[in-house]
Amino acid sequence: MRVTVFGCGYVGLVTGACLSELGHDVECIDIDADKVATLQSGIVPFYEPGIDTLLQNKNLSFSTTATAPDLCIIAVGTPLAENGSADLSQVFGVADLIAAMEKPPKAVVMKSTVPPGTSAKIAAQTGLETISNPEFLRQGSAVQDFMQPDRLVIGASSPRGFALMEQLYAPLNLPAERIVNTSTTSAELTKYAANVFLTTKLAFVNELALYCETVGADIDEVTKGIGLDTRIGNQFLQAGPGIGGSCFPKDIRALAFQSKALDHQLEIVQAVIASNDTHQNAMLQKIVDMCGGMVTGKRIAIFGVTFKANTDDLRNSVSTVFIPALQDLGAKITATDPMGAENGKTVFTGVDWVENPYEAAKNADVVVILTEWDLFKALDLARLAQAMHVPRLVDLRNIFDVQKAVQAGFDYDSIGRAGSIKG
Ligand SMILES: NC(=O)c1ccc[n+]([C@@H]2O[C@H](COP(=O)([O-])OP(=O)(O)OC[C@H]3O[C@@H](n4cnc5c(N)ncnc54)[C@H](O)[C@@H]3O)[C@@H](O)[C@H]2O)c1
Repeated sequence: MRVTVFGCGYVGLVTGACLSELGHDVECIDIDADKVATLQSGIVPFYEPGIDTLLQNKNLSFSTTATAPDLCIIAVGTPLAENGSADLSQVFGVADLIAAMEKPPKAVVMKSTVPPGTSAKIAAQTGLETISNPEFLRQGSAVQDFMQPDRLVIGASSPRGFALMEQLYAPLNLPAERIVNTSTTSAELTKYAANVFLTTKLAFVNELALYCETVGADIDEVTKGIGLDTRIGNQFLQAGPGIGGSCFPKDIRALAFQSKALDHQLEIVQAVIASNDTHQNAMLQKIVDMCGGMVTGKRIAIFGVTFKANTDDLRNSVSTVFIPALQDLGAKITATDPMGAENGKTVFTGVDWVENPYEAAKNADVVVILTEWDLFKALDLARLAQAMHVPRLVDLRNIFDVQKAVQAGFDYDSIGRAGSIKG
């Protein structure tokens, strides 16, 4: 099939490159001419493992203008608008381009995450069948997730629409039970439901972790105990500094906004947003407490600014909340991140960037783990402690064993675990 993918971001580029690997003729379009030029020269403009080799595919091209494909896939951004709704201007902008095509495609495929009802609006705007095919890939393992998806969700309004998608994904050879055919509106809501469910799971674990501190339980023991229940599952049970990232924070807020606008408020969704805000404040307080109750004039070494490991993406990362907040309180920040430093330099001001974590710890009053990079997990704790004047470590990913951190000489705090020694 001849496919045009609009948007060369994390989702669009992975979609286009993987579809070319599956044998389709793919052109990837972006309005950002610099990004297109970078891609044309064979360079991936962001960090995503495994994508660079796919750019060599002869049946994959990049441009700022589309030709005449069989299918148009929309994979542009849907960030949060100021009022808390999903900003659909990029999506509707692409729909305008498709509506103006001299030779219209057979259908439009919506891969961007959009509120229920949007695909129907795009169908009305373009006069073309619009299929909802939400994307579930995770940054950091995006290529593998695309090539071996847990499931495909296809929302179409005609047998022809489902048949087109069958043709598109046939090379994946997925068993029928992993393909979920629905209406477009159900497919759109499925994406929000998945992200909000995962966010809820994380927010619950974060709340539980702090409750462990109150009652003297240990979150690692509790989550192991519940995770072995197959109805619950052992994934997404890791306490952390708060939910961040390119999707979860915006998607939960967009769903909350839509439900409120439709006068059908989703109570749990509201509670999760509030819980996450409270949790982030509590995590920030842990850093302040480790500094003796005041961070004014203190040097804080932040280990990890990306929203999770294996990405260079800082969108809605907790670092974007914590670093300015600590600076406002008078702290000086040193930061280190194996992949996020370049983007970090454009996001933060007044931060000293250091490549080597041991160097970053030097002269720091406290080291704070914000991202669970393997590089940090492998640190020699004794060496790290020796680099510091007074070794203090706030581990907001629970990546270190409490006893080992204490034995290395740290005043050590983590989340919801027994045996921590606070500053
Ligand atoms: N990032 C993820 O992990 C992920 C996972 C699943 C779903 N999604 C959803 O996929 C969508 C895209 O996310 P992303 O992270 O790839 O976004 P992104 O911001 O990385 O990329 C969007 C791209 O679209 C381009 N663009 C904007 N308007 C355009 C136009 N008119 N024509 C062509 N290109 C245009 C931008 O220049 C940008 O390169 C969002 O709706 C997001 O919620 C993201």
